[in-house]
Amino acid sequence: MTKINENNLIIFDTTLRDGEQSPGASMTQEEKVRIAKQLEKLGVNVIEAGFAAASPGDFKAIEAVAKTIKNSTICSLARAVEADIEKAGTAISPAKNKRIHTFIATSKIHMENKLRMTESQVLERSVMAVKWALAYTDDVEFSAEDAVRSDINFLVEVFDAVIQAGAKTINVPDTVGYSIPHSWGERMATLIERVPNSNRVIWSTHCHNDLGMAVANSLSAVLNGARQVECTINGLGERAGNASLEEIVMAVKTRKDIFNLETSIKPEFIVPTSRLVSTITGYPVQPNKAIVGANAFAHESGIHQDGVLKHRETYEIMRAEDVGWGANKISLGKLSGRNAFKSRLSELGIEIESADILNAAFDRFKLLADKKSEIFDEDLHALISEEYVAGAIDLHKLVSLKTTTETGSTPVAKIKMTVDGKELEAEAEGGGPVDATFKAIESIVKSQSELLLFSVNNITSGTDSQGEVTVRLTKGGRIVNGQGSDTDIVVASAKAYINALNKLLSKLERAHPQV
Ligand code: KIV
Ligand code: ZN
Repeated sequence: MTKINENNLIIFDTTLRDGEQSPGASMTQEEKVRIAKQLEKLGVNVIEAGFAAASPGDFKAIEAVAKTIKNSTICSLARAVEADIEKAGTAISPAKNKRIHTFIATSKIHMENKLRMTESQVLERSVMAVKWALAYTDDVEFSAEDAVRSDINFLVEVFDAVIQAGAKTINVPDTVGYSIPHSWGERMATLIERVPNSNRVIWSTHCHNDLGMAVANSLSAVLNGARQVECTINGLGERAGNASLEEIVMAVKTRKDIFNLETSIKPEFIVPTSRLVSTITGYPVQPNKAIVGANAFAHESGIHQDGVLKHRETYEIMRAEDVGWGANKISLGKLSGRNAFKSRLSELGIEIESADILNAAFDRFKLLADKKSEIFDEDLHALISEEYVAGAIDLHKLVSLKTTTETGSTPVAKIKMTVDGKELEAEAEGGGPVDATFKAIESIVKSQSELLLFSVNNITSGTDSQGEVTVRLTKGGRIVNGQGSDTDIVVASAKAYINALNKLLSKLERAHPQV
């Protein structure tokens, strides 16, 4: 279990749980394991791998992460409900270091309208939840959901009771992203001062970004005694997201003069981790995002460029290479064989047990290497995601696509695809080749879904780079993200659309922890 050390800031990553609550960001078991391995490499202390009671798929994914990861603590979220806690405890049981994170809402608005429980019932249930969780691990974290709008006296009472019951970490969430830095810090300081035996536990903060202050609020809590921050890669998470791990870590490191704290994060893995999470979830990183955005270290104005050339620190407070920029390596090329391919995947933490999947992935790699002379690690991650997704849910498959565009004429797409093994063809016109392609696919599938987002990014630099396309579709309240990559962005778009349709039409359902 994590030891209390005043000079150590525990990094609790919830990309695989709160991050997964972003619309359409659901991950498969293989994807969760891949991200967890990268988080372990990054040096994250606690990985919240999911919410075991959400779905059998999430249970299995947490179990798989628990079996794989050795250096980080593996945690499952659980409502303060015995059946949830039992599932969480069972899912994390293979882990070397395991934690149950149980929570219940403590604000009047949540207790009355959502839980329909009185204060004393919530108090009693909180204690029971910690006791149930202790049957599976002595590393139990308790969260008071919507702590930001909870009565401070009631919070003190609940935290006192759960500490007495054996909770080791007390998490104070700003569930709705309502706070501002000075009052959030003040709340943390008041709780630490007023809750009896507060020095026996680790105080944690979990902030949402609805007003754009998740990172600032978290850091203010740290300045006032929090020694665990709950955060996500790229700030992914419910609604406007969570505090972003890279910003927290680099703020604490760059302003050591103010925080005087250490984390176990290895910053050189920040950018590769950000890229991996973006590829897998289909959430592109905005170019001006701090630390991991494409422009985070780009100096555009002449005065800035001149200053940086003369003396780097004139305009740079961090070095791009220290957070992993420029780390993308040419991995493989046209002449690389199956063994080189397999061993590079294994260096990237990707172990493919099925010979069929490995063969199919290798065939795709060869096709890609024919079009693109240098294959980067990012290309391999995109390729593997696609292979697993195609193998897992393949109701619809792309066979071939031909698009015709010419200035002054209407673009046309001709598509051949299989639906449940049967080959079908369609042709459609559109405003552009992508529009025509989507219309052609729809004329076959007739999904009646609505397109919420279409975005294209290049995976690496250069015009021969693969385009990575995300398509977000919704139907009947469900939202899914589909991804596709190819050196031809229209083909990548078709793959992404078909991938989204496969997810949308599959039966995969997840419960939401807050409901
Ligand atoms: O935002 C929140 O309150 C949560 C809890 C479950 C910790 O995610
Ligand atoms: Zn949250």
